[in-house]
Amino acid sequence: MSDSFLCTAEEVLSLNFDEKTSSKLVYKSKVVMSVTERPYLRMLLSQFENMCLRRVLEVGFGLGISAEIIQKTIRPIETHDIIEIESSLFQDLCEFGLRYPIVRPIHGNCYTYDFRGEYDFLFFDPYDYMISDEEYMDENELMGFYQTEEVALASRLLNNGGILCHPFFGDVNMPEISGFELQHCHSAKVPAFLLWDGTECETAQIGYYVKQD
Ligand SMILES: C[S@@+](CC[C@H](N)C(=O)[O-])C[C@H]1O[C@@H](n2cnc3c(N)ncnc32)[C@H](O)[C@@H]1O
Repeated sequence: MSDSFLCTAEEVLSLNFDEKTSSKLVYKSKVVMSVTERPYLRMLLSQFENMCLRRVLEVGFGLGISAEIIQKTIRPIETHDIIEIESSLFQDLCEFGLRYPIVRPIHGNCYTYDFRGEYDFLFFDPYDYMISDEEYMDENELMGFYQTEEVALASRLLNNGGILCHPFFGDVNMPEISGFELQHCHSAKVPAFLLWDGTECETAQIGYYVKQD
């Protein structure tokens, strides 16, 4: 494992999870992540298997499921940086990094962290801990979100031709986003997985965005 980078206290969180096991993370009764997502994440990330990606950034370590899939299928050539905001999950990330020397753990907030350099691939899978039933985004709000923080981050951090990949659950169409071309977008039937509200879902979107010149 190479260096990890600590950021200021305001940029990180220490949370009391309702449940934190190797198969499930629950915060304030909401499912942050569960192992049931693994088959979908494997399907989503297998699109990039033979692409020889050099510099990979992953946002959100969670249970480390996508991190492991990225290591085993994408096999980044130069670096696999992973940023995690929550302190106990960052400790898990550091342990994961001991098994994969190319992994560089970063403790911080992806929206404010001062990343150095650009990436070929961004796997973007954070969780909004402020989420509540009322705040759950509908399709229009999702579009709005895409015009703002995530796109700004991806535009700033990706090389031209770089790939943005983001899990999309259910039948919601992946939105078009400015400055990116949407590729290979389709709906897929996947083994049932848990959504944040504890309901099950068997449909997810496969596709990704390529940053345009
Ligand atoms: C859905 S989980 C990620 C699941 C992960 N892909 C996996 O396979 O287990 C979301 C993660 O993003 C982290 N997170 C949320 N907001 C973040 C932010 N602004 N910057 C960095 N990490 C963040 C959460 O603490 C959590 O670990």
